Amino acid sequence: MRIAELETPAYLHYNPYIMYETWISARNAFFHFSYTKILKPFYFRLDPEFIHDRMTKVGKILGRFGVTRALTSAAFDYRNAKLEQTILGIKFANPLGLAAGFDKNAEIIDILPSVGFGFTEVGSITGEPCPGNPKKRLWRLPKSKSLVVYYGLKNDGCEALARRLKDKNFPLPVGVSVAKTNNQACADAETGIADYAKAFETMKDIGQYITVNISCPNAFGGEPFTDPQKLETLLTRLDAIQTDKPIFLKLAADLSHAETDAIIDVVRRHRVHGFVCTNLTKRRDNPKIIDAEVPKVGGLSGKVVQEMSDELIRYVYSKTKDTHVVIGCGGVFTAQDAYRKIRLGSSLIQLITGMIYEGPQQIGAINQGLVKLLEKDGFNNISEAIGVDNR
Ligand SMILES: Cc1cc2nc3c(=O)[nH]c(=O)nc-3n(C[C@H](O)[C@H](O)[C@H](O)COP(=O)(O)O)c2cc1C
Repeated sequence: MRIAELETPAYLHYNPYIMYETWISARNAFFHFSYTKILKPFYFRLDPEFIHDRMTKVGKILGRFGVTRALTSAAFDYRNAKLEQTILGIKFANPLGLAAGFDKNAEIIDILPSVGFGFTEVGSITGEPCPGNPKKRLWRLPKSKSLVVYYGLKNDGCEALARRLKDKNFPLPVGVSVAKTNNQACADAETGIADYAKAFETMKDIGQYITVNISCPNAFGGEPFTDPQKLETLLTRLDAIQTDKPIFLKLAADLSHAETDAIIDVVRRHRVHGFVCTNLTKRRDNPKIIDAEVPKVGGLSGKVVQEMSDELIRYVYSKTKDTHVVIGCGGVFTAQDAYRKIRLGSSLIQLITGMIYEGPQQIGAINQGLVKLLEKDGFNNISEAIGVDNR
C-alpha cells in the first residue's frame, strides 16, 4: 500500500472550529436529554411558581462566585463572532435575551452570560412595590407548550431596585422594563402615568435600554395605554425625562393591524427607538390551545403566542424598518423559531417559555443552530439576515 493511501482524510484533520462545534452539540444533546427526561418530569409535578422561585435562587447563587460561573459556562455557553452585533450603540455577543418577567427583581443577571444569553430584560418594575395578584397565578399547559401567567407585576418597586443596582457593573446588556403599579389607584390614567414616570425616572441610569411595558394583561384597569390618546400623554410625559438610553415599547400580542397603526403613528412623534413584539395573549379561542382546562385569568405564552408574535413582528417591521428596531419575543423554542423571527425583521430575540420546556442548554443550542442556518444561507453575520423575508 502506498503512503498516500494511509494519509488521514481531510475531514479528520485537526480543526479547532469543527471540534468546538462538535463538542457543543454533544454537550447540548446530553443536557437536553437529562433535562427533558429526568429533571422536567420531576419539576412539572411541583407548583410552577415554587420552581420559578427556586430556579431564581439557584441562579443567584451560581452567579455569585467565579468558579460556579465558570462551571456554568462550561455546561451551557456558546460563542461565535457571527452572532455579534451593535444595535443602537449597544454591543450584543449574541441575539438571544431573557424576556421580562423571569428575573423580576434583577437577581440573576450575573449568571446569564454563562448560561449563554446575549442580554436580559429585568422587571417589569413599577413605581411602587407590588405583591402581585393573589396566588395561584402561574400554570403550565404542557400539551400546548405554554404557560398561563397571572403574576400581576410582582416586584420590589423601582426605589428598592435602583438602590440595589445603582453601582453594579453588568456582565451583559440589561434592559429595564417599566410598568405601572398594579393597584386600584394606578388604574386611573393620570395616576398611572405618574407611576410610569416615577419608575422610568428612578431606573433611567441603570442598564443599557428601557422598555415601557404597555401590554401587561394582568393589571388593574387592563391596558389603557394601547389607546392612542392615552399613549400620546404617557409618551409626552416620558419625553420630558432626560436620558440617552434607547427606549422600546412592548406591544400586546392581541393588537389588530388598525390598533398597531394607531400606536405606530403616536410613537413616531416621540422618543421611542423600537418595539418588543410581543407580550402574552389573552385570547382563549386560539387553536394552538390543546389542553382541556385553561384558567380564565392570565395571559398565555409559548407556542400559543408564537404565530401572533411572528405576525406582529412582520407587520411592525414592514411599517418601521427604516426608523425602529424590533425585538422578537413569543414562542421561541428552537433555532428555526428564532431565525424565522429574525428573517421577519427582529434584530434581537427574547424568550422564557422555550427555556422552561426545553432546558437551559437550549440557549446555547439555539445560538449554535442560528450559526448553522446563517452559514447555510450564505450570511456572514446575523445582522445580514434581519428582515430578508419582509422586504
Ligand atoms: C412567568 C412570566 C412572567 C412574565 N412577566 C412579564 C412582565 O413582568 N413584564 C413583561 O413585559 N412581560 C412579562 N412576561 C411576558 C414575557 O416577557 C414574554 O413576552 C412572553 O412570555 C412571550 O415569550 P415566551 O413565549 O418566550 O415566554 C412574562 C412571561 C412569563 C412566562
